[in-house]
Amino acid sequence: MTQIASRVERLAISQTLAMSQKSRELQEKGADVINLSVGQPDFPTPDHIKEAAIEAINQNFTGYTPVPGYGDLLDAIAAKLKRDNQLTYAPNQIVVSNGAKHSLANILLTLVEEGDEVIVPAPYWVSYVELVKLAEGTNVVVPTTLEESFKITPEKLRAAITPKTKVMFLCSPSNPTGSLYTRDELKAIADVVKEADHPIYIISDEIYELINYQGKHESIAQFDEIKDQVIIVNGVSKGYSMTGWRIGYIAAPEWIAKACNKVQGQMTSGAGSISQRASIAALNGDHEPTKKMLDAFKKRRDLVVEGVKDIPGFEANVPQGAFYLFPKVESLFGTRYEEYTINNANDLCMYLLEEANVAMVPGEAFGAPGYLRLSYAASEEELKEALARVKEAVKKLYK
Ligand SMILES: Cc1ncc(COP(=O)(O)O)c(C=O)c1O
Repeated sequence: MTQIASRVERLAISQTLAMSQKSRELQEKGADVINLSVGQPDFPTPDHIKEAAIEAINQNFTGYTPVPGYGDLLDAIAAKLKRDNQLTYAPNQIVVSNGAKHSLANILLTLVEEGDEVIVPAPYWVSYVELVKLAEGTNVVVPTTLEESFKITPEKLRAAITPKTKVMFLCSPSNPTGSLYTRDELKAIADVVKEADHPIYIISDEIYELINYQGKHESIAQFDEIKDQVIIVNGVSKGYSMTGWRIGYIAAPEWIAKACNKVQGQMTSGAGSISQRASIAALNGDHEPTKKMLDAFKKRRDLVVEGVKDIPGFEANVPQGAFYLFPKVESLFGTRYEEYTINNANDLCMYLLEEANVAMVPGEAFGAPGYLRLSYAASEEELKEALARVKEAVKKLYK
């Protein structure tokens, strides 16, 4: 009999981490694994940000921090929201946390309880559904397809809303699909949410804001009629290549920010002092390194989009943001090679890891079993080699 609480028993282990673990094991045995399963930019944090952190240490920013974040970081975030998104938030509407994942956990603990339904458009980022379970809520997963560019339509959203709906997720640019919602699409979603006869809160995950190949970032918080039901989640992890620094934030109605502050005050206190000082430099400083990173990602995106066209059974669209491709692979289900039988994306990813030494993440992890996720946060040489290997391995499969 296990002593572990049921809320933890219900949690799944992150499949993205499971795939990384398996590829590490193969690497330790000497295999030349190309890892396309990772969710972080393969660039170092820009120098001016690192220097700000060193400066912070030398200036003894080493004590506890205010729970919602240093005042000048809150100011920098408010200024960023004004400058980049034309959104007005006061510092007391912002809470800084230990990464955007922590921000998401705070919001769900703040808003969701047993009996509440949370609408999760799929493919979704792995942690959404698990955090909803931790908050004792019920996931209402709404599948979308490649043909819909993986975006929830107003009709599908309307059909998913019930009197119990408390929260919905939106993620644009999206992990795992790279899709972007246009302004008009966001407006249509805002209209459906506004039509509901009780308030539904939108968690707008904008962590990939700066990795956008299309142009202007659009936030659903721009529509005044819905702004007081939107919680923006963002952070420095992806756009400034700072995943290890662990700084995320929310911008929300004041009462939600206050409640998140209360949760965080008891759970973790304020985020790390050095990382907060570095984040001020990131937000206020030179964005040239981010632009260079974006150019590199765009070249790689084009490379993988072209490359997968030559892989039999892979069908993909052109992602407009983030650094992932999400090809449909279900036509390969029911094939085999030697001791391998491919019944699902899990089997396919395991086969490609063992036969081609290329690690990717099966769509099951994102609530989309007919697909897999390929991260192109890797060098062009690695990407070319990986695509060639995958093509060879897939060609060996037969019905
Ligand atoms: C869609 C999405 N939201 C949130 C996060 C969490 O970001 P952080 O590293 O700041 O916790 C990630 C990280 O992979 C992500 O892909």
